[in-house]
Amino acid sequence: MYISLKEAHNIMGMAILFLLLFAIIAILIVFLRKKPFGKFSKVVSLIGLIIIHLQINIGIALYFLSPLGKSNFSGESMKHTISRFYIIEHPIGMILAAVLITIGYRRSKNTTRTNANRHLQILLFYGISLAIITYLIPWFLWN
Ligand code: HEM
Repeated sequence: MYISLKEAHNIMGMAILFLLLFAIIAILIVFLRKKPFGKFSKVVSLIGLIIIHLQINIGIALYFLSPLGKSNFSGESMKHTISRFYIIEHPIGMILAAVLITIGYRRSKNTTRTNANRHLQILLFYGISLAIITYLIPWFLWN
């Protein structure tokens, strides 16, 4: 169970980087072409929303199953960079990234905004979120 969740979390992490980047580039093109916020924009931004929510749920389950998660929480482990990364920085930062995506998605659904403004909400919130996620991926695993 732990190993499969860890594998899924790893694969989904890479998929998120790719899909968010794709969503941002696609929305940027639609925005620059001054197209309406139509079905395409909705689907692309919804994919980003769904995948990050799935990943957060897997992450929370992993937090309770992994030896690097909750069970590693102690005053002593806070002094170690990698332990602190998995116990505090990675989970909190990633949850913040998901909150930002959710806010951006919700704001883009507001039909009282102009088409350009709806696209801008996605670009801004998904963009900041992608930067946070990229920063908090445990890249050191592959060094
Ligand atoms: C967008 C959100 C997230 C992304 C992209 C992400 C990505 C990753 C990646 C790539 C790994 C390395 C997996 C491996 O060693 O094979 C990892 C590990 C881990 N993540 Fe996340 N994560 C996210 C959210 C979360 C959240 C919200 C939590 C907890 C609440 C969490 C808890 C963990 C834990 C405990 C590990 C260590 C697993 C282990 O090696 O035993 N993650 N994460």
